[in-house]
Amino acid sequence: MIKRSAKLSVDGKAVIELPILEGSLGYDVIDIGQLGGNGLFTYDPGFSSTAACQSDITYIDGEKGVLLHRGYPIEILAEKSDYLEVCYLLFEGSLPTAEQKVDFERTIRYHTMVNRSIELFISGFRYDAHPMAMLCGLVGAMSSFYHDSLDITDQQQRTISAHRLIAKMPTMAAMCHKHYIGQPFIYPDNSLSYAENFLHMMFGTPCEEYKVHPALTKAMDRIFLLHADHEQNASTSTVRLAGSSGANPFACIAAGIAALWGPAHGGANEAVLNMLNEIGDEKNIPQFLKRAKDKQDPFRLMGFGHRVYKNHDPRATVMRESCDEVLSVLGLENDPLFKLAKKLEQIALEDDYFVEKKLYPNVDFYSGIILKALGIPVEMFTVIFATGRTVGWISHWNEMISNPYRIGRPRQLYTGAKTQKFPYSQ
Ligand code: CMC
Repeated sequence: MIKRSAKLSVDGKAVIELPILEGSLGYDVIDIGQLGGNGLFTYDPGFSSTAACQSDITYIDGEKGVLLHRGYPIEILAEKSDYLEVCYLLFEGSLPTAEQKVDFERTIRYHTMVNRSIELFISGFRYDAHPMAMLCGLVGAMSSFYHDSLDITDQQQRTISAHRLIAKMPTMAAMCHKHYIGQPFIYPDNSLSYAENFLHMMFGTPCEEYKVHPALTKAMDRIFLLHADHEQNASTSTVRLAGSSGANPFACIAAGIAALWGPAHGGANEAVLNMLNEIGDEKNIPQFLKRAKDKQDPFRLMGFGHRVYKNHDPRATVMRESCDEVLSVLGLENDPLFKLAKKLEQIALEDDYFVEKKLYPNVDFYSGIILKALGIPVEMFTVIFATGRTVGWISHWNEMISNPYRIGRPRQLYTGAKTQKFPYSQ
């Protein structure tokens, strides 16, 4: 029985009754599935008003600045949990018990190595290949290495693929970096935590032991944690769409990586640093703010604004704390680039244009600054976002495949030529 419905009248004639579906939190949605059968489609480029699926994983209230994973606020997870625990939560649906946590960490450690041929594959990339280009290719290629976990109808195989992806992403990400800078690959050290191991593979060399300050490991873990999932964003929706055709999980995650790369999405953290370098000096900030407000100028203030958050980005609040801590541990508070970033943040937060349009610094503004302070090259920033987000992508993919689903097939408003007569005779 339909509890509530909306009525649609077209040209004052047909009246179609559309059921209203209620979620556990947030907006209700009008189920328009029957419109196609009535010769009508909805038009919503950019999906500003369209719920593309039903999901139990993540909830965002953009007005209030709330982000929940399986009901837990992101601030609490960042304070009390760690990345691997959040991975378990997102994929399995609940926080692990102490025993499940030990078991999960052991499983992830077991999968950290990659097939030796993947190393050879990386060596085939040009010396200056962008790490995102390499990662996209590598993850797609994983389906040619792990044939034993490609049956998407088998939950156990889906879980093994998820574990492989979570475990091998940092290894492959660090390998892309090492190839880019021409250093030998550093193999995973399974005695280290997830974040520490990643830093070890990034910065270690065969000649010297690499030691990292615990505050920096914690910041790295937080970066992964805060990027773990974010509801139906562009890359997650891409993963779901690719998966809806029955494609294997590695191919779907490669599609997600490609979607993440753009500067409007995950590429923003890299773009933030490029922008700060371009601004160069505090005295140039007004000129760049002017450009950001100019409709004729494509320039935007990178790291500001969000499609959903119109109050504040709760991830940015946590990331800001980490940012201050990292800068202080590394003694970089007076570094000109970081001072410039702080000044830009302050000016933009007070500027009428940004205040009126509710354009706040987002997670990428602060994560870009932290990653730069950690000594990670800008080309790696989006790779790190992809590494953290892999669990979100695979959890959404698994949720979709575990329930009845249909291939995603949007329609269009056609505005091209009407039927034309072929102009030439033979
Ligand atoms: N600088 C200047 N103006 C902006 C900015 C910005 N960063 N962001 C939005 N606006 C203006 C925009 O011009 C528009 O003005 P008007 O109403 O006069 O036409 C208004 O604000 C609304 O913007 P929109 O483009 O309709 O918003 P959107 O929801 O389509 O885009 C966004 C959201 C994140 C793509 C956009 O804010 C942006 O390009 N920000 C910079 C890139 C960035 O930091 N992206 C990372 C997002 S957080 C990480 C992630 O989840 O991927």
